[in-house]
Amino acid sequence: MSHQRLRLGVNIDHVATVRNARGADYPSPLRAAKLAAAAGADGITAHLREDRRHIRDADIAALVRESALPLNFEMAATAEMTKLAVEARPHAACIVPEKREELTTEGGLDAARLSDRLKPIVQALGAAGCRVSLFIEPDLAQLKAAVALGAPVVELHTGRYCETEGAAQAAELARIREAAAAGAALGLEMHAGHGLSFATVQPIAAIPEFAELNIGHFLIGEAIFMGLGPAIQEMRRLMDEARGDAA
Ligand code: PXP
Repeated sequence: MSHQRLRLGVNIDHVATVRNARGADYPSPLRAAKLAAAAGADGITAHLREDRRHIRDADIAALVRESALPLNFEMAATAEMTKLAVEARPHAACIVPEKREELTTEGGLDAARLSDRLKPIVQALGAAGCRVSLFIEPDLAQLKAAVALGAPVVELHTGRYCETEGAAQAAELARIREAAAAGAALGLEMHAGHGLSFATVQPIAAIPEFAELNIGHFLIGEAIFMGLGPAIQEMRRLMDEARGDAA
């Protein structure tokens, strides 16, 4: 194989959503992380939101302590989250927008406009040993802003591609392809995610610059019907097939 295998990060936020809906202590995000590891996932992603609507602080501590897979900690660009990340020292930290005013028009972090706020956060996370990524739109200005901030990784937002159909979807896919190539040429490690499903993953997985996809909501939903392990295995199979990698 001439290239590295595309990594699959499994976002387990919505295991916690189901748990919190009843105020119970199950289903357990940590158990989901262990199952994901057994099913062939390469990493776990969890978003500690400011309102703690799904993942909680204790989940992050348990994942860092007990999950065998590297944790990608999704966080808002706030002092509170930066402090928590620096203390927990997850493998990776991905800065995402949580408020309307932090978004570009389509939905990613407006890294270009927020660069003064982001700079010290990217530096603090990097100094703590976290691989820092920014969740941005497939847009050249955002890619250049990430480079200027010293973020080694960006994750391109695939939400619009997943939500559209026909010509609009083809146009968005072309935009993602161009941004993946432009970002890699700028020296960024390229990731993608948001809204991906069995039906939408393959054209994204086939883009050679991507090193990692982060997928959550669809997998947790599909787990209700086919089980979490088989759902992850099928996503893995589709990704490998799109890349031309033998299983
Ligand atoms: N990547 C990022 C940066 C995210 O914030 C999320 C979750 O909101 C995902 C990927 C996964 O998206 P989904 O749950 O729609 O698969």
